[in-house]
Amino acid sequence: MKPTALSRYLIEAQHQGHINADLRLLLEVVARACKTISSAVGKGALGDVLGDAGSGNVQGEAQKKLDVLSNEILLEANEWGGHLAGLASEEMEHAHAIPSSYPRGNYLLLFDPLDGSSNIDVNVSVGTIFSVLRCPDGVTEPRDEHFLQPGSAQVCAGYTVYGPSTILVLTFGRGTHMFTLDREQGSFILTRSDVQVPEDTREFAINMSNQRFWQAPMQAYIRDLLAGKTGPRGKDFNMRWIASMVSEVHRILTRGGIFMYPTDNKDPSKAGRLRLMYEANPMGFILEQAGGACSTGRGRMLDVMPEGLHQRIPVFLGSRNEVAEAERYHLNHDHGSA
Ligand code: AHG
Ligand code: MN
Ligand code: MN
Repeated sequence: MKPTALSRYLIEAQHQGHINADLRLLLEVVARACKTISSAVGKGALGDVLGDAGSGNVQGEAQKKLDVLSNEILLEANEWGGHLAGLASEEMEHAHAIPSSYPRGNYLLLFDPLDGSSNIDVNVSVGTIFSVLRCPDGVTEPRDEHFLQPGSAQVCAGYTVYGPSTILVLTFGRGTHMFTLDREQGSFILTRSDVQVPEDTREFAINMSNQRFWQAPMQAYIRDLLAGKTGPRGKDFNMRWIASMVSEVHRILTRGGIFMYPTDNKDPSKAGRLRLMYEANPMGFILEQAGGACSTGRGRMLDVMPEGLHQRIPVFLGSRNEVAEAERYHLNHDHGSA
């Protein structure tokens, strides 16, 4: 069969009534911006794109040159098409309304322009994560509060991983699908439709260097995973940590697993490392659509009512039964039985 390019896939989805013309345009534009980011990432040292930008973002993190560049690419690509009312990004303190000189649409776009950017200088895979919401009725100048909708309200979510190949993963609520960038043709080609995450796993991902800061249910859960075959879980587990959430999620979509970034006592002012609106929620939508799960450890991620654009949250995502197992340790602890 002839390969299906993303453009054709989206047009057919529109003809079938699954997406409208504005959402199709939005996805085309995001995919185009991701191609530009992919090319910048791929140039590496030849493109003068590596290293620190010499600036910090609102979260107090040092920005890489590629964080800043990727943010500009996404901003510039999405501003003038008429499909958006506003944008929000990890790299910008507040929501950005579409300038009045451009037509405005009904969607809100949130993104992490470059996830895992601490890996960029060592040539490990990084990615872009995005989430699409509807702009509330009657709002023409969206501000931060208009973005504060639960993950279950997402219209669409996706990520692009810039690895040995560049892969765009997408859901608009009808399964999770993967498109691989054909660099010669310059187009994304459907390479896996209706991805399904195995329900069970023997692989977990966590930054073990934070162990001494974890709270009691986390200590108990990881202790039992590490105990392997002779412990209460009765099987041996393998461990991975790439420090790039996009890459970890991509591995999980491919062969199952559980990824965790729990809350810890390292910095009590932060409820976790990852951000709800443009990291946890889009990944949660993608995983649920692939038969996996995403939880705070104490409930479904997509049900959380956000309180801030850059709010942090504990994250447990991946194979459904293993995420349920991690939740069980938290709930047992809360109910005093562990
Ligand atoms: P970002 O580069 O967008 O700030 O996100 C990095 C995140 C995530 O990709 C990764 O899982 C985690 O931070 C890495 O954390 P450690 O530094 O604790 O390994
Ligand atoms: Mn990130
Ligand atoms: Mn980032």
